[in-house]
Amino acid sequence: MPVRLVVGLTGATGAVYGVRLLTRARALGVQTHLVATAAGVMNAHHELALDRRALEALADHSHAPGEIGACIASGSFEAAAMAVAPCSMKTLAAIAHGLSDNLLTRAADVMLKERRRLLLMVRETPLNLAHLRNMTAATEMGAIVFPPLPAFYHRPRSIEEMIDETTERVLALLGIEGASPRPWQGL
Ligand SMILES: Cc1cc2nc3c(=O)[nH]c(=O)nc-3n(C[C@H](O)[C@H](O)[C@H](O)COP(=O)(O)O)c2cc1C
Repeated sequence: MPVRLVVGLTGATGAVYGVRLLTRARALGVQTHLVATAAGVMNAHHELALDRRALEALADHSHAPGEIGACIASGSFEAAAMAVAPCSMKTLAAIAHGLSDNLLTRAADVMLKERRRLLLMVRETPLNLAHLRNMTAATEMGAIVFPPLPAFYHRPRSIEEMIDETTERVLALLGIEGASPRPWQGL
């Protein structure tokens, strides 16, 4: 059975993280399932000039947010892990409160109930108390809250390098074989 990764893409800025995750997972032989919200598709178009069709072509399987009967809505479908990349505060709130009001938040809910890896690349600044409380709630339920904050100790030379390093770290955290974040070697 293939290793399956669910990627949720929401309307927070940083659509490139979802895109990079999909392309890198594919290169590592992982079967990808994409669910992009309407705001996610809008931002991907604005930030990367990718329309829905181009976005969907990056995944092995693509599901609409309203398609609540899709395979990833059930725990019996064995997806190894899920990343929401990027994760808006709205979707974070829905996940933190178990709303399951669309396919993305339902798939995340499934990850939590099945005790599988769920990683949220939350993006907002500054953070209000609701954002902070929702991150705490998601963490208490077992999700990994992973704001895509670049590290500078590898002295990145480009934005692409920063994004790639973050992507590798995310894939490694999700347990994807072949992910290769650069280890710190010490001073
Ligand atoms: C250009 C743009 C950038 C945005 N960036 C963020 C962001 O970084 N974080 C966030 O929580 N919401 C951001 N938003 C707002 C979300 O897109 C909005 O709350 C939306 O309802 C989220 O819906 P979704 O979670 O279903 O994708 C942004 C909106 C736009 C138009």
